[in-house]
Amino acid sequence: MSICARPFARANSARVLGLLRRLLTAPKRLAELERDHLRLQREAQRYRLLVDTTTAVVWSTDARGLAPPSTPSWSEYTGQASAAHAGHGWLDVVHPDDRDSARERWLYAVQHQIPYESEFRLVRPDGSFANVISRGLPVWSEDGTQVLEWVGTVQDLTALRRSEQAAADRLRELQETQRMLVAKERLAAVGELSAAVAHEVRNPLGAIFNALNMLRREMKHPLLDVLSEESDRLNRIVADLLDFARPCEPRFTGESIHKVIKAALQSVDLESRRIDVQLQLSAEVDQLPMDGRLVRQLLINLFENAVQAMPVGGQLSIRTERAEEALRLFVADNGPGVPSHLRERVFAPFFTTKATGTGLGLAVVKRIAESHGGSVRLEPGSIGAAFRVEIPLAAGPAH
Ligand SMILES: Nc1ncnc2c1ncn2[C@@H]1O[C@H](COP(=O)(O)OP(=O)(O)OP(=O)(O)O)[C@@H](O)[C@H]1O
Ligand SMILES: [Mg+2]
Repeated sequence: MSICARPFARANSARVLGLLRRLLTAPKRLAELERDHLRLQREAQRYRLLVDTTTAVVWSTDARGLAPPSTPSWSEYTGQASAAHAGHGWLDVVHPDDRDSARERWLYAVQHQIPYESEFRLVRPDGSFANVISRGLPVWSEDGTQVLEWVGTVQDLTALRRSEQAAADRLRELQETQRMLVAKERLAAVGELSAAVAHEVRNPLGAIFNALNMLRREMKHPLLDVLSEESDRLNRIVADLLDFARPCEPRFTGESIHKVIKAALQSVDLESRRIDVQLQLSAEVDQLPMDGRLVRQLLINLFENAVQAMPVGGQLSIRTERAEEALRLFVADNGPGVPSHLRERVFAPFFTTKATGTGLGLAVVKRIAESHGGSVRLEPGSIGAAFRVEIPLAAGPAH
């Protein structure tokens, strides 16, 4: 037996030493690896639990942004079959109106490797649509040079959006009520003031009438006619103001609207003003609970306005029809109509475009209609002016 002994090369000795060191530290390294393995296992378990218990849909795609053949939580949430969801198939269950923007945002995020966020409507298994927000992030390789995949979630915002909508509706209602209250208060103040002024003016006006009559008996002078005319006008204004200020409390009795219309027509001078009246009264609706005196006043005010809008004559059309649970009454003329920028204002008290108008006619119309639980509006887009009044068939005191 021959033993060949060669001196250890320096390089070999270093390798052996390294091996020996690794052998000696192996148990420690093994323990470390085991600990790492356990930690990773725990993390994976925690992640799985999180995914299972979250109400959000958790999704992932490959680096090119293509969904895998199966994402169970997506299929469960949308009812879309797993295979249909793959690639860009998930877009098929996005609401058609939101699909393009969801697709564009997703392609943009993938192309530019930036976080993705998009809100859209997503179909549910029962066919309804849910408001959702989908957010995703790219997962980068360790050296940060390339995107390995994308992960993200879809969260249901339906309840949130619904409560936001309800809050917005409520706010709008409150603002409307506040606006109405302010308008009512202002109206009440204006009404009170007008009543007080009218009351004060009425007494001296009575004295002026008496004095005028006495003067007329004693002398003749053209200025007396002017005085008399202007006093008459003052008297009419005072009567209008008092009418407007008086609380409007209808006394409901069963009345024929056809009769009331005809009575109101008789109170307006139509013939000398060359007004042709067209009546179209529906046999379906005639008798209804209302205060005939007030409705007659309402009609006279509308007729007067129509006649004044047609100084050289024209056509006044009156039509009734039965709406669901109301009488609908149209009063139209073929005058110049109401300019669009004034449409909102014509029902406001004291709004007038006439040199001798008080601006109370339509305010009174509105008040009478509302006191019957009904409404009045200016019909849009008609030639001339057309007003539509509605009075409920089961009318009663307005609340
Ligand atoms: N049929 C109509 N055609 C065109 N404009 C109208 C018509 N009816 C009302 N308007 C407009 O609405 C304004 C308000 O009408 P409203 O009846 O309230 O007051 P007025 O007629 O001016 O005065 P008052 O009726 O108190 O004598 C009018 O001044 C006019 O500008
Ligand atoms: Mg008028």
